[in-house]
Amino acid sequence: MKGIDVAAIKRDFPILKIKVNGRPFVYLDSAATSQKPLQVIEAIDKYYNEYNANIHRGVYQIAERATEAYIDSKRKVGALIGTRAIEEVIYVRNTTEGINLVAMTWGDQNIKKGDHILISEMEHHSNIVPWQILAKKKGAVIDYIKLDRQRCELSYESLEKELAKSPKIVAVTQVSNVLGSINDVKKITKMAKKGGAAVLVDGAQSVPHMPVDVNAIGCDFLAFSGHKMLAPTGIGVLYGKRELLDNMEPLFGGGDMIKTVDFQSFTTNDLPWKFEAGTSNIEGGIVFGTAIDYLNRIGMARIRDHEVKLTRYALDAIEGVRGIKVYGCPKSEPEKRGGVISFSINKVHPHDVASIFDRNGIAIRAGHHCAMPLVTGVLGQGAVSRVSFYIYNDERDVDRAVEAIGDVKRVFRVA
Ligand SMILES: Cc1ncc(COP(=O)(O)O)c(C=O)c1O
Repeated sequence: MKGIDVAAIKRDFPILKIKVNGRPFVYLDSAATSQKPLQVIEAIDKYYNEYNANIHRGVYQIAERATEAYIDSKRKVGALIGTRAIEEVIYVRNTTEGINLVAMTWGDQNIKKGDHILISEMEHHSNIVPWQILAKKKGAVIDYIKLDRQRCELSYESLEKELAKSPKIVAVTQVSNVLGSINDVKKITKMAKKGGAAVLVDGAQSVPHMPVDVNAIGCDFLAFSGHKMLAPTGIGVLYGKRELLDNMEPLFGGGDMIKTVDFQSFTTNDLPWKFEAGTSNIEGGIVFGTAIDYLNRIGMARIRDHEVKLTRYALDAIEGVRGIKVYGCPKSEPEKRGGVISFSINKVHPHDVASIFDRNGIAIRAGHHCAMPLVTGVLGQGAVSRVSFYIYNDERDVDRAVEAIGDVKRVFRVA
């Protein structure tokens, strides 16, 4: 597969031209949020300069243009994940809101006292806490698929064992934001469906980085965030199978989600609008389409290929350094992980590691990465450092990270 032209891509991202502490800026925190290309920034400008109006309601020209652009963006989002039906594409604020929406509607209607909800040990808080809130309210039980420590993926033995309890829903991440592990969500869905469970996939770290097809996976719900894939913050997606969405009550009441209202009652609007009450994030929704155009021009398969190569390069460089512990799959298996590498440097606090990276002009993450049960409970760490890659990163960025690790070791006298 032909590689991607990272130098040309870098030129599209104005922020990558700045200097931090006198050094050219290197951004290695795309798992938290991605940077935005000029095309996206200009599309925001264009919307406000040329056709800012509320959607669905106006009969004047710019309102119709805004409505069409918003709907067109949903078509692009749907096509990206393998559905032609915009009825199945609900715009929410982010992954977190998408998962909460499922827990508060589908969960509220389908989970009863004593029911089991199955998630995994490697979930982000966004795919733990909504289920804990629901379980507390309903008197349900949350079970966890264990991590296979050797293989750094979910244990199928543990999955089998937990599925024997007949959970009503299985909710798992496709890619871990800490370990980078890629879970075989197609296989997990197939196993879960045998027992009749609904399946939700957290696609926050997968949809921006690789081809994802909801039909191939067979899941009922998929949630992901625009801001991790070149779009602005405040726009995300909940995909849901139509037959499930049809039977779910709306979460919020108000404008746009209704067809009719009288003094006593209302009837709901068609999908997906039933779940989009009030004025939407119109700017974010429209510009999400521009972000997807940008990613499609590169191609999701090529993006994935680029990240596998870069991750291999980085693992080769980092794992060999004395005093460093890398979490997740070993370097011989970069195909099994996304472009995320968490690590510790002997006896140095991860926040100090991140500060020294910053001194070197490099942005990385340090902390529990909103996955405390995994980082603290399973890995036994208070915090870890993390580098994560995207389309605008190259080997030179990794070399800069390795130099910064050398700086950390020098400052803290790590042997
Ligand atoms: C695996 C995973 N799930 C969910 C989220 C939550 O995403 P958001 O904050 O955009 O809702 C994140 C964010 O980092 C994540 O990595």
